[in-house]
Amino acid sequence: MDTKVVLSLENITKRYPGVLALNKVSMNFLEGEVHALLGENGAGKSTLIKAVAGAIDIDSGRISINGQEYEKITPSLSRSLGIEVIYQEFNLVPTLSCAENIYLCEKSEKSALFNAKDIEKKAANVLDQFGVKIDPQRMVQDLSIAEQQIIEIAKAVSKNVKILIMDEPSAPLSVSEVEMMFKIINQLKEKGVTVIYISHRLEEVFRISDRVSVMRDGSYVTTKNTKDTSRQELITLMVGRELKETYPKRKNLPGDVALEVKNLTGNGDRNLSFSVRKGEILGISGLVGAGRTELAQLLFGAAPIESGEILINGKITKIRSPLDAIHHKIGLLTEDRKGQGLFLEMPIKWNISFPIGQRISKYGVVNTKKEDEIATKYKERINIKTPSLLQQVVNLSGGNQQKVVLAKALAAESDILIFDEPTRGIDVGAKQEIYHLMTELADNGITILMISSDMEELLGMSDRIIVLCEGELAGEVQKENFNQHFILDLASGTH
Ligand SMILES: Nc1ncnc2c1ncn2[C@@H]1O[C@H](COP(=O)(O)OP(=O)(O)OP(=O)(O)O)[C@@H](O)[C@H]1O
Ligand SMILES: [Mg+2]
Repeated sequence: MDTKVVLSLENITKRYPGVLALNKVSMNFLEGEVHALLGENGAGKSTLIKAVAGAIDIDSGRISINGQEYEKITPSLSRSLGIEVIYQEFNLVPTLSCAENIYLCEKSEKSALFNAKDIEKKAANVLDQFGVKIDPQRMVQDLSIAEQQIIEIAKAVSKNVKILIMDEPSAPLSVSEVEMMFKIINQLKEKGVTVIYISHRLEEVFRISDRVSVMRDGSYVTTKNTKDTSRQELITLMVGRELKETYPKRKNLPGDVALEVKNLTGNGDRNLSFSVRKGEILGISGLVGAGRTELAQLLFGAAPIESGEILINGKITKIRSPLDAIHHKIGLLTEDRKGQGLFLEMPIKWNISFPIGQRISKYGVVNTKKEDEIATKYKERINIKTPSLLQQVVNLSGGNQQKVVLAKALAAESDILIFDEPTRGIDVGAKQEIYHLMTELADNGITILMISSDMEELLGMSDRIIVLCEGELAGEVQKENFNQHFILDLASGTH
């Protein structure tokens, strides 16, 4: 194996108010390797790569690229050295087309040569590699989160990249898109590109990486050859203690039908019919673009229904707006935490209690003690890592932001909860807690619809799974018939 060090980090330290985000971190990255970077939410992974990309200034430490030490890394220096970063938070320009986003830099560099048709053709070629049909002329703001992520990847790999840093690239993708991405990563690797790969999906680490490094609480823990370690060992290294991964046992059987959908059509979905019981967890599977999020929007009144019916507790119910949905005690946890899920500039506490403002207020004044109680409960239960509940959400790590979205949905005490990718970007330990919380809710008669691209989680948590394909119901699978291949076949329409 090639052992040329292309990126060397020495004693990198970065402090934020109340948080030592990086504590003397030292690490080496080799030419042509896929190097996975693991750690719990808030461990410092994104901060470390931002330092390499020149997106933040470090307090102390040394960064060398190709043997050359640099006093200060700026974004343009980092890019000129062939470092491309796919950030955890998207960095696309919403009001430009896909093609323009992919070739944005070229456009500004050689504006005289810039040719719309040309970049559209180039973009179409890059997108073709993913086997995803995205029209390069479409505006990025009209794309789903998964499609945006594919544009991000296309943008990075279309450059002359030497070190590709991917911060949770797979989070919004489902199985088949991840496969495409792995193919592209392997092609890059053959060309000698170094890939730094951050993910909370451990099975991916074993699929794609040569080495894996673990961080904990801002500190470097260790680096292993991937083939010499195990899932359990990595979890223990990340969490700092033994952690058993199990899906909680359910106490109660599902009861009466809580939600029934008959021939529901709209928002790109057609003729969907299914029902969910009280205390049942219904998994919703499908590939990117299958219409899962679109279904959630229909049920939550966030998109107009063209035809068909929704019945709640046996009664035909008109849901024309999210307010209607909330009135009928339907809650939605959206997949897009940045766009719809959170008020980023507001404190954590405020975000969690916002939807229940009325319930915890008297004469229009919020009972701050109640507000604190609720926020503190979830902070502790799902381990939101922050020095204070007054912290602005924007300053939290990606996974901790997702925990706030989740806390907000849980605190609302809905009867029917729709979760769209609830554990996306959440670390293994917190995932276990969330699974327990969901199980408790179901045992207490709450109805849960869970859209998830994480197949393990879908199989582990659902009582039943429905599969969507191109906006239609492709099948319904009972627990005794759960099988990953069968579900994937249904999802890809090959069954
Ligand atoms: N701008 C900021 N202001 C204050 N604190 C910050 C800021 N950016 C990061 N932090 C804190 O630094 C720590 C490390 O965050 P970082 O985003 O690097 O974590 P991470 O390992 O990427 O986690 P995740 O898996 O959730 O994405 C966290 O405690 C986070 O709250
Ligand atoms: Mg991060």
